[in-house]
Amino acid sequence: MTRTAPALDIDAILDDPDTRIIVCCGSGGVGKTTTAAALGLRAAERGRSVVVLTVDPARRLAQAMGLTELDNTPRRVDGADGGGEAGGELHAMMLDMKRTFDEIIEAHADPERAEQILTNPFYQSLSSSFSGTQEYMAMEKLGQLRRSNEWDLIVVDTPPSRSALDFLDAPERLGRFLDGRLIRILTAPAKAGGRSAFKLLNAGFGVVAGILTKVIGAQVLRDIQLFVTALDAVFGGFRQRAEQTYRLLQAPGTAFLVVAAPERDAMREASYFVERLAEERMPLAGLVVNRVHRSPAPSLSAARSSAAAEDLEARGEHELTAAVLRLHAGRMQLAAREQRQREHFTSAHPTVPIAQVPAMPEDVHDLAGLRQIGQLLAS
Ligand SMILES: Nc1ncnc2c1ncn2[C@@H]1O[C@H](COP(=O)(O)OP(=O)(O)O)[C@@H](O)[C@H]1O
Ligand SMILES: [Mg+2]
Repeated sequence: MTRTAPALDIDAILDDPDTRIIVCCGSGGVGKTTTAAALGLRAAERGRSVVVLTVDPARRLAQAMGLTELDNTPRRVDGADGGGEAGGELHAMMLDMKRTFDEIIEAHADPERAEQILTNPFYQSLSSSFSGTQEYMAMEKLGQLRRSNEWDLIVVDTPPSRSALDFLDAPERLGRFLDGRLIRILTAPAKAGGRSAFKLLNAGFGVVAGILTKVIGAQVLRDIQLFVTALDAVFGGFRQRAEQTYRLLQAPGTAFLVVAAPERDAMREASYFVERLAEERMPLAGLVVNRVHRSPAPSLSAARSSAAAEDLEARGEHELTAAVLRLHAGRMQLAAREQRQREHFTSAHPTVPIAQVPAMPEDVHDLAGLRQIGQLLAS
């Protein structure tokens, strides 16, 4: 027996005033950014005051949403209020990771120390390259937007990580890094002040520092130490803030939507993510299966279509018809494979509601396209 998943009622989620945060997550390239933008637009046109936090919109989509200035603050999107009758508004912003990092430093360090960090040569490379900073910054920005209480709905797109789980794991990983052994070794002498640094020289640091000095030079090592000490001070409340955001994500006003393409890897990733959300007691709203293929003539089976094509080819007639029949057979096979993937997911997670969005003939790059995706999500 094949189970049918319950239908995901998107409009019920968007219209519920208790829904304050929607998080679109999933593996790379499945349509998270598109889904987040489409949901934001639909909610605004249905009367809510919405901000969409996008991470990596394609250039044309960003332009369509007026995201041309990267100033890390939400901007109102023109033509996204449903004609103004419903009273909604759409604001959008694109996460500027470096800027968000700078803002945290500026907000949590005294001006002198902030300056010390921001101008440190290591800051630039760490703030943009440490794996997980983007995920952490997205969380940080979400926390800021929520605390500002300016919008009644925040729709969050998540970073283009390989794995959907990175979004949940990154803050913890960054926390471990900041609490890590190397950091402690590097910060110890500076923290302890000049005098006791001598003691620490005997306690292992001397060896490490000696090696590091040989390899990277004394000035560079000093820069790193200064930087790490300053950073350590700023991120002192790091775990605490990460925990706050975690609680925000667990709150009943949050709805996680897992986005997946109807392919084995993406659906498997979606499965992991669904299990993980349950473990973390984070509220899952449902699964969006994006880019589903449908056939215009589902009554003609793949087998019959192939047989007919073969027959025509054998007789050397109606080449074009034979080609169309082959194409149709391929389409039907693809649709069947995709359906098996959905059934597989549903047999493992029978209660998770599903919405499906067909594959569009072209990329979604303007408000009209987003509106259409929104309609399809809701239907
Ligand atoms: N249903 C769809 N039909 C056609 N193209 C789509 C659909 N959903 C997304 N796309 C396109 O796929 C590309 C990747 O989508 P995107 O939302 O950026 O994925 P992600 O954020 O998960 O990496 C974009 O070019 C987007 O326009
Ligand atoms: Mg994206």
